[in-house]
Amino acid sequence: MKKVLVAGSTGYIGRYVVQELKLRGYQVRALVRNTGKIGQPGPHLEPAIAPLADEIFIGEATKPETLANVCDGVDIVFSSLGLTRPDFVHSCFDVDYRANLNLLRLALKAGVKKFVYVSVFNAHRMMEIQNIQAHEKFVDELRASGIDYAVIRPTGYFSDMAQFLNMARSGVMLTLGDGDKRSNPIHGADLAKACVDALEGNDSVVEVGGPETFTYREVADLASEVVGKHPFVASLPLWLADGIAAVTGLINRDIQDVALFASAVSRMDSVAPAHGTHRLRDYFVEMLNNEEHRQHPAPTGMAENKHESGSQPV
Ligand SMILES: NC(=O)c1ccc[n+]([C@@H]2O[C@H](COP(=O)([O-])OP(=O)(O)OC[C@H]3O[C@@H](n4cnc5c(N)ncnc54)[C@H](OP(=O)(O)O)[C@@H]3O)[C@@H](O)[C@H]2O)c1
Repeated sequence: MKKVLVAGSTGYIGRYVVQELKLRGYQVRALVRNTGKIGQPGPHLEPAIAPLADEIFIGEATKPETLANVCDGVDIVFSSLGLTRPDFVHSCFDVDYRANLNLLRLALKAGVKKFVYVSVFNAHRMMEIQNIQAHEKFVDELRASGIDYAVIRPTGYFSDMAQFLNMARSGVMLTLGDGDKRSNPIHGADLAKACVDALEGNDSVVEVGGPETFTYREVADLASEVVGKHPFVASLPLWLADGIAAVTGLINRDIQDVALFASAVSRMDSVAPAHGTHRLRDYFVEMLNNEEHRQHPAPTGMAENKHESGSQPV
């Protein structure tokens, strides 16, 4: 059976891709920099990878000296490795571009057959954002490398929509602009299926969205309804959001990128071809139940039993 190296395996999408690859019978080597993350599910209910992956390779993709042999014996590399939150050590060019380039070079050297990379839907319309530039700079390298490849271009993830749930719970819902632009966000498990389909297929570009389309205002309303609150809604005009982004850019470029990205997607529809079956309402309910369970855990005996039946060797 083919062996796949998964980079970004401790992130939202990477975890589901590890799971989907195992369901389809692949051998999986997970590249991990922080082993503390592998035994637990992720913060958005994505699976723990320790019980799933066949091999854990410990290395830092930004440091090529830690990656020796990472691609040896590997048929396909999948990477969702990327900088998605402020990092005061690395820039998006260090991670989205150079770290993925380190992996691509090693893949070429090791004779890997295919490289599948996760970029962003509508990237060409957001090229003023550095994080998007870094993604696309890597896509250019991938295209030029001569390796068989697929670029996945997803819309927003359910993990990002969870921000609406947090705001609904806090009692203050911040929306950008009119909130009238449409998107079809996707659950990690559905996106992972599309990623592994791409890994097995022939398309070099795969645009992926979820099965339901919402305006951002509708997502905010859905989150409020699931939480059972009527939060105070503060609508930030887009010109003000851009002003705030410009000021934050003086402090940290990553925070500025997050603000610019939020502003950009609030200005345009982001509706990609629909995939999958997971519904946003179910995800919100699941997240809420999980949070309530965390705050009010079951009596000790019940919790222990549940742990024992679900535990697997690491
Ligand atoms: N969120 C969205 O709506 C969305 C939409 C379209 C595309 N995308 C893109 O999809 C990709 C995956 O997103 P995601 O939500 O799965 O991201 P995520 O949960 O933040 O996971 C990112 C992965 O990259 C790794 N990583 C980050 N910085 C690193 C560094 N300096 N050195 C080594 N590894 C590093 C993380 O490792 P650690 O766990 O050790 O930090 C993690 O495994 C990203 O490129 C993102 O831009 C996201």
